[in-house]
Amino acid sequence: MKLCIALDLPSAKENLALAKEIKDFDVWLKVGFRAYIRDGKEFLENLKMINPNFKIFLDLKLYDIPNTMADASEEIAKLGVDMFNVHASAGKIAMQTVMNRIKDIPNRPLVLAVTALTSFDNNDFKEIYGQDLDTKATQFAKDTNTAGLDGVVCSAFESKDIKDNTNKDFITLTPGIRPFGEDAQDQKRVADINFAKKELVDFIVVGRPIYKSENPATVVKNILAKI
Ligand code: C5P
Repeated sequence: MKLCIALDLPSAKENLALAKEIKDFDVWLKVGFRAYIRDGKEFLENLKMINPNFKIFLDLKLYDIPNTMADASEEIAKLGVDMFNVHASAGKIAMQTVMNRIKDIPNRPLVLAVTALTSFDNNDFKEIYGQDLDTKATQFAKDTNTAGLDGVVCSAFESKDIKDNTNKDFITLTPGIRPFGEDAQDQKRVADINFAKKELVDFIVVGRPIYKSENPATVVKNILAKI
């Protein structure tokens, strides 16, 4: 299991300071809307300057018509990031179009699809998608696998079922992790490390429990010791 740290701080300066504090650990960094919209490509380059071995997950959750998603994916691949994501609800054709466009790029990034946001509970999800979350998340995962993507973003609660319905190498990346039972904040389906391990999760994403703590490096160290 790998740790992916969400760099969701309010400025590039603070995110880079966090990256410096944890630069000696073997971790992935998740760059999301906030940081990428504000700080762009230069921010990614600055992270690699702190530690060229940092792996970067660009979490922009693409959702658009197939050709637009493929264009954006090609541009993302050129940025040299290690992983990015799309929404599975954009559909199988969109996901296939993305994979066809980037499949021959050397060292192409891993591509994941979001099944259900971890801020949704079953009622929230059903209101939008008209089906129960568990059933639909598994269906989204199967579609993602058929379309040739590398894995899904899901909650720890769906990870094992998704692997059972696809294959064990199909990656699951789970936000909503509160490593040692910390406060859930706006997340509705949170899990701790023990649970994530039991559910065979490949990547746990942790944001606030690390970057809001007094000593992020110690929290990272404790998480890595536990996983
Ligand atoms: O602070 P916290 O640990 O809740 O951060 C979780 C991170 O994972 C945030 O950057 C959030 O945008 C992201 N995320 C999520 N749920 C998803 C996909 C991404 O919480 N399904």
